[in-house]
Amino acid sequence: MKLSTGLITLALSCSAYAAVPLYGQCGGINYSGDTTCVSGASCTVLNDWYFQCLPGSGGGSSSSTTSTRTTITSTSTSSGPTSTAAPPSSTGFIKTSGTRFALNGSKYTVVGSNSYWVGLMGLSTSAMNQAFSDIAKAGATTVRTWGFNEVTSPNGNYYQSWSGSTPTINTGSSGLANFDNVVAAAKANGLHLIVALTNNWSDYGGMDVYVKQILGSSGTHDQFYTNANVKTAYKNYIKAFVGRYVNEPTIMAWELSNEPRCKGSGGVASSSSCNTSTITAWAKEISAYIKSIDSNHLVGLGDEGFYNQPSAPTYPYQGSEGIDFDANLAISSIDFGTFHSYPTGWGQGGNEQAWGTQWIADHATSQTKAGKPVIIEEFGVTTNQATIYTAWFNEMVSSGLAGDLIWQAGSHLSSGNTPDDGYAVYPDGAVYPLLTAHAATMKSRA
Ligand SMILES: *[C@@H]1O[C@H](CO)[C@@H](O)[C@H](O)[C@H]1NC(C)=O
Ligand SMILES: *[C@@H]1O[C@H](CO)[C@@H](O)[C@H](O)[C@H]1NC(C)=O
Ligand SMILES: *[C@@H]1O[C@H](CO)[C@@H](O)[C@H](O)[C@H]1NC(C)=O
Ligand SMILES: *[C@@H]1O[C@H](CO)[C@@H](O)[C@H](O)[C@H]1NC(C)=O
Repeated sequence: MKLSTGLITLALSCSAYAAVPLYGQCGGINYSGDTTCVSGASCTVLNDWYFQCLPGSGGGSSSSTTSTRTTITSTSTSSGPTSTAAPPSSTGFIKTSGTRFALNGSKYTVVGSNSYWVGLMGLSTSAMNQAFSDIAKAGATTVRTWGFNEVTSPNGNYYQSWSGSTPTINTGSSGLANFDNVVAAAKANGLHLIVALTNNWSDYGGMDVYVKQILGSSGTHDQFYTNANVKTAYKNYIKAFVGRYVNEPTIMAWELSNEPRCKGSGGVASSSSCNTSTITAWAKEISAYIKSIDSNHLVGLGDEGFYNQPSAPTYPYQGSEGIDFDANLAISSIDFGTFHSYPTGWGQGGNEQAWGTQWIADHATSQTKAGKPVIIEEFGVTTNQATIYTAWFNEMVSSGLAGDLIWQAGSHLSSGNTPDDGYAVYPDGAVYPLLTAHAATMKSRA
């Protein structure tokens, strides 16, 4: 994938009297420029943040893009399109439509798996292909993966290396060019990718590397969310990574972080000033930043879906980790909600089936309230898998939850088995046929 130049040409100037040129911005939240497109183009809603003048509506304007764009009802805070936009049709990019996802005017079912490792293990392109093929054969449409690895001593696949407080993006064959191969292999297998851009956990670097390198040993984990220099460094990384794939429809969505939380460990301290408002403010700022450079792709948070109900009986509902699921889902530049389910580690050992079923039902309720899709994008138990997954799958289907991705995909590669933390689903394992049947059910659901 070559560096995209598309985003640079999007209208940067909107004179008060001239009509907006083809491909210029013509509306969106807090946009204050012109809303009338040049003749031959119509103002089309790409998302709440970005309306664009696209060929069509009596146009005759020729361009390499022959499709029209999905139209999404704009919110009252947006400047409205000034001409009737085309009905939902082909953009090539996955969009949301109410509490569902859509691609080219048809329902897109999010069902699949996680493969954090596919771009991090030095895999050959044929091994990447096998990994994605094993996932696709179960009927999957979507794979979630890691688009980061922060290192201080370069080794293997990494995407950013740090020398003191200076980060350098690795665009070479062990870096972004390697991720190009991940994207190509997903595409070759008909899959779309959800890509997380950093990690709360110190696996593959993540937030704590930014904090340690920029703020030194006195930095706290949650300063990732608040320190201006740290946020600038993260935005620079986003600009390079996201900017490279702006026009790549194989990417379904970006995620702000895997499992953001207030607390840290492993040498980086926590502070008591972090709470749910801290992470909500950060999610607002970073998601709006992504929208400002990439209007094609959806944006999600990547969190575990914790609620902020301090008097609730179980810990994932109490807000203590700094996540307020409903508040974050209400952010206008967050397109869909995410949650995870690991009841065994969350104090529900022995009660996984019932607790997880309720957890799914509660997020489906949040989905309806917010009018945005919500997906359970990681879930797992290591015992009683068939019984528990069957119960959870039934609830995902019947509650109307938008989609699900199991943790995690497994493949037997010629170089050995992919990582198994006790949850991996290999093609010859007992869970794989359950997943296959579930994918078919989700696709056939209205
Ligand atoms: C829009 O602009 C107003 C006023 O400048 C600001 O308060 C608000 O946060 C902006 N909205 C978004 C969603 O950025
Ligand atoms: C969606 O439409 C685009 C543009 O017309 C096209 O290139 C792409 O192949 C379509 N994708 C699917 C999955 O139909
Ligand atoms: C966030 O990540 C750190 C590692 O960087 C981990 O130790 C900590 O437990 C995580 N926070 C939570 C509470 O999950
Ligand atoms: C959250 O933290 C901020 C900043 O430390 C503080 O101003 C605010 O009162 C806290 N909110 C709650 C609900 O504790």
